Amino acid sequence: MGSRLLKRAGISPKTCEQLKRHNIESCKDLLKHTAFEVMHAAGLSYQKTLEMMETVSKVIAPPLTTALELWKHYSDSRFLTSLPALDKVLRGGIPCGAITEVTGPFGCGKTQLCMMLSVVTTLPKELGGLDRSVIYIDTESAFSAERLVEIAQNRFPDYFSSREKVVQMAGRVHIFREMTCQDVFRRLEKLEEILIATKAGLIILDSVASVVRKEFDTTLPGNLLLRSNVLGEEATTLKYLAHQFNIPVVVTNQITTQIGGQGSGPDTEGDSGIVTAALGNTWAHSVNTRFILQYGDGHQRQLLVAKSPVAPFAVLNYTIQKEGFCMNGNDGEVTLYEGTDPSLQAIRVRTLINLDTP
Ligand code: GTP
Ligand code: MG
Repeated sequence: MGSRLLKRAGISPKTCEQLKRHNIESCKDLLKHTAFEVMHAAGLSYQKTLEMMETVSKVIAPPLTTALELWKHYSDSRFLTSLPALDKVLRGGIPCGAITEVTGPFGCGKTQLCMMLSVVTTLPKELGGLDRSVIYIDTESAFSAERLVEIAQNRFPDYFSSREKVVQMAGRVHIFREMTCQDVFRRLEKLEEILIATKAGLIILDSVASVVRKEFDTTLPGNLLLRSNVLGEEATTLKYLAHQFNIPVVVTNQITTQIGGQGSGPDTEGDSGIVTAALGNTWAHSVNTRFILQYGDGHQRQLLVAKSPVAPFAVLNYTIQKEGFCMNGNDGEVTLYEGTDPSLQAIRVRTLINLDTP
């Protein structure tokens, strides 16, 4: 992946320092120059320069693997959510090395789910956690430390009965508040080092939609393409990080009202049309797994598994309690989805008739 820093690509600190003076810091920076230019910048011989460029090219090339390798390590590539019914549908939990998107109307529980997953990540392995820290990129100032602690103490009361454990958990959730597209992208580009330093086991981006939707009015000509490019770059970087560190990436998305065809046109906020996941088709292709959260009848809410390479379309009912996300029933009830594709159906938003009062 091009944004990897040269110092993490086996290049000597002295050469890295020298190249930095010429604004060459990442593999991408290096490989966009000719060997001749790099030679001058690095102060190396032509032969040494070619060798360095070959090393860097190999470092960023995707490693070769086999299905057998992936099969052997299958259980290491899933993250148990603490929601057994969901884990079962997903054949062992949320996938590592891939992007999982949670989309749905405002207030339906996307941030609650992210906070709950953060707590689970920090838990010891014998309690089903990863014993790792969390990188939480908050673009909506929606993260609440009080709520995080409340979820932890109510979900795992025995483990978090001591203040020390609560303090440890909260100290392992690293929050970055990024309010513009540029800030989000810069953060993602520099995340590799932070992931190593913090031993993170989960990246959350809550939400991917809010900043791009604020900055790109897609009813204006050209903006849809620009937004698509920004989202494409973000998805590529997130996928690289997920794959490189074999960790799950969870992003939240919003809904939009699509008029005249699903997913391809500009986002609008009108009253008519069909309510679908925001950000269009190109983005939808970039995520590996998609959950749609929606309001159901009465107090019910539903999580639809709307896209997964390993699971059928499925419906799980949930509520939000003191302990965060709770599936209905003991292990939760899973129903196979009866429609053709949940992504093509209208997402049920909150109305006066099914007003939810948790
Ligand atoms: P947006 O970010 O606005 O799109 O919404 P969201 O989907 O992220 O919603 P969020 O996760 O913030 O969930 C908000 C909902 O969680 C509220 O409407 C409440 O229903 C529920 N909620 C939040 N805190 C509590 C709590 O302490 N107890 C209970 N029972 N429910 C809570
Ligand atoms: Mg939210």
